[in-house]
Amino acid sequence: MEADALVTYVFDGDNKLDGAAGEIDRAMSGRLGSLVSSGEITAKSLELVLIHFPQGLAAQKLLLVGAGKPGKFATSDLRKIAGAALRHLKSRGVKNFVFLTREGERGPEAAQAVVEGLIVADFESDKYRTDKKKSEIQSVSLAGFDSGLAGNLNAAIEQGRVIADSQNFARDLINEPSNYLTPSMLAAKAEAMAKEVGLGIEILDERRIHELKMGALIGVAQGSVEPPRVIVLRYVPETTAVGAPLLGLVGKAVTFDTGGISIKPANNMEKMKYDMGGGATMLGAMRALAYLKPKVPVIAIVPATENMPGGRAQKPGDVQVAMSGKTIEVINTDAEGRLILADGITYAKSLGCTHLIDAATLTGAIEVALANVNVGAFGTPREFLDQFLASAAAVGEKMWPMPMDDEYEEMIKSTIADIRNTGSGKGGGAITAAWFLKEFAEETPWVHLDIASTCWVDEGRPWLAKGPTGIAIRTIVDFALKL
Ligand code: BES
Ligand code: ZN
Ligand code: ZN
Repeated sequence: MEADALVTYVFDGDNKLDGAAGEIDRAMSGRLGSLVSSGEITAKSLELVLIHFPQGLAAQKLLLVGAGKPGKFATSDLRKIAGAALRHLKSRGVKNFVFLTREGERGPEAAQAVVEGLIVADFESDKYRTDKKKSEIQSVSLAGFDSGLAGNLNAAIEQGRVIADSQNFARDLINEPSNYLTPSMLAAKAEAMAKEVGLGIEILDERRIHELKMGALIGVAQGSVEPPRVIVLRYVPETTAVGAPLLGLVGKAVTFDTGGISIKPANNMEKMKYDMGGGATMLGAMRALAYLKPKVPVIAIVPATENMPGGRAQKPGDVQVAMSGKTIEVINTDAEGRLILADGITYAKSLGCTHLIDAATLTGAIEVALANVNVGAFGTPREFLDQFLASAAAVGEKMWPMPMDDEYEEMIKSTIADIRNTGSGKGGGAITAAWFLKEFAEETPWVHLDIASTCWVDEGRPWLAKGPTGIAIRTIVDFALKL
């Protein structure tokens, strides 16, 4: 096969070079084997070794990606391997390459992982740059797959493409500066997407938000001249069984979080444009579900607002009445995400949602607990959370279960209202925030994802540009498809 480059991966301790790697080694008259025995190729996870003009091969370059120890390898690792390969070659001017999978990874699941890894890796945050880099990957061919599975492989490739494009759709939204993405503009973009993919859409404007008595959302929005919106997207399957679950996806979309009157320090405040990451996650997930057509109906609810310290802004000590009727003492106006989600969750329940997932860049505390490695995953009942975490593991997104003991609920009791919007006492900030949401989800099976530290990365990874990650979409889509 003629291509600029051939890419495959090798395992740590794979001195034998069997299968596909063995064939390459033979074509190169054993040169690959000598690179392994000399220690140049260790095959440690994501180690990249680029060989120019490999003798005996038609390609101009051979890229070997380390796959780590075979015992620790999972099919989902192909995402990172394919993604790291793409970014490495793209930055070196390669236009097309062949990705060769190894024996054992020849089915649809592997194909989907490779496609997702490639498309997500190809994303760059250069929309507003006039000096865009010119390097561009034009095509990637997949090789090594079982041709007997052609039909299934094509379906898997399409599914991978839809999910990765939806992740990139969300990443584009997250990148938008707040002057280009107000709540109304976010709603307009959601509407355009919904029309394109065939989802139902309704945008609740200020009047409707007032009619519905979403006092917690209004409290946050009143400090801004930009009016709030609630974006409601609907996916309805062709047939729905009686008594079927109705999945509700609620996403925080604070298009800019200054902190409000409890204003944030200037340092890093520009990052708070990504405080709509949870909302973008749900829009991305809905986009994918519109194509992938789960059996269950799904509704997404995205409350959108700015959090500004305007003259009409809510103040610490103010009491707001949420849509559910619960009263909230606003201790800190910077704990605004939980306020708008409270009304989002209540609205989801009023529409009949039987199961809820919310995603939000909710707390700085989740970064203290889990750094940018794991999403903080909360939920009740525990079996429902475990079911969700099984999806996360299947698609290779790292999420860690966080505790929901009753003791934490005590920390959000208020003296003058039903609850307060920050925990009293020290520590546990991500957990008290989750408990606040549970006061509104109540007994409905519910999962809360705190993506504050994982929705955006300040440093690029070999397989991912720095900036928005698109985390959690894959898991939510997998979960909805299995429900
Ligand atoms: N949007 C922030 C959380 C955040 C922090 C997201 C860092 C991304 C990166 C949220 O609205 C917030 O300000 N939370 C406060 C809550 C506190 C006042 C109880 C926080 O985490 O400091
Ligand atoms: Zn805040
Ligand atoms: Zn916020």
